[in-house]
Amino acid sequence: MNTDTSYSHIKTSIENNAFIVMIDRESKMNALNIELLKEIETAVTSVQDDPGIRGIIITGAGAKAFAAGADIAEFAGFTPEEAEKMSREGHNVMNTIENSRLPVIAAVNGYALGGGCELAMACHIRVVSPNAVFGQPEVNLGVPPGYGGTQRLAQIIGKGLAAEMLITGNNMNAERAKETGLANQIVEQEELMPACIRIIEKLAFKSPAAIGKVIKCLNDLYEPVANGMETEIREFASAFQTADFNEGTAAFLEKRKPDYQ
Ligand code: COA
Repeated sequence: MNTDTSYSHIKTSIENNAFIVMIDRESKMNALNIELLKEIETAVTSVQDDPGIRGIIITGAGAKAFAAGADIAEFAGFTPEEAEKMSREGHNVMNTIENSRLPVIAAVNGYALGGGCELAMACHIRVVSPNAVFGQPEVNLGVPPGYGGTQRLAQIIGKGLAAEMLITGNNMNAERAKETGLANQIVEQEELMPACIRIIEKLAFKSPAAIGKVIKCLNDLYEPVANGMETEIREFASAFQTADFNEGTAAFLEKRKPDYQ
């Protein structure tokens, strides 16, 4: 294993032909601050032309969380302009992952909430442990999702189920995620990384060029929803000037239930 120490919030390593990106903020449930997301983008981009790498795995440190969302403490004081920048940059990171010519697997080892769910959905395949929890709980905070969640969730599980999850903010366990197609497979926590590495090992015998073309074609199927992505960025940003947003984020940080009027 070979670890690059130039990142502050992630750890990267190589196992055989798999490049592993581990979100390394275990004490904060691997919440995604802006710098961290940019580090993921840099890491994913850095191996695109590496002939020894056949796939990328993104996971979270520890056994509780893949990523429990965007860093609420970081964005709680943002203006709508800052929120738009945050959302736009987050979209760019998710698009970089989705458009990676190397397949990207999310090894979901616990909570994948908000931005964590969006990050997992930007990956091409999701392998999850039995304690995985998916959710877009942003309505509890007074905002819509801002990293492509309204669009990719509908693409993956269909509009009806996505509407239910996005409107209620209810979470989905691993079993239900598998049933709905949000999870590709469930494997025991200790088997999670070996299972993902095995998937990529087998890609050594498949054409990287053809895989890159498959990813491009799949992504082009959804090109018409580009307007949906723009709508999401605008709606996310404008939520930041509402009383609901102030109340939702304050309630989370003060560890109490929000009181929406
Ligand atoms: N942003 C910032 N900090 C977060 C976070 C987030 N999205 N998710 C968790 N944390 C922090 C908590 O504030 C806490 O920090 P503290 O120890 O300094 O108080 C720490 O991570 C541990 O989280 P805690 O809530 O104590 O763990 P838990 O096991 O009781 O609950 C969750 C785990 C994931 C259910 C809960 O943390 C949660 O609901 N997180 C927010 C999910 C969310 O709304 N995501 C969408 C954001 S857009």
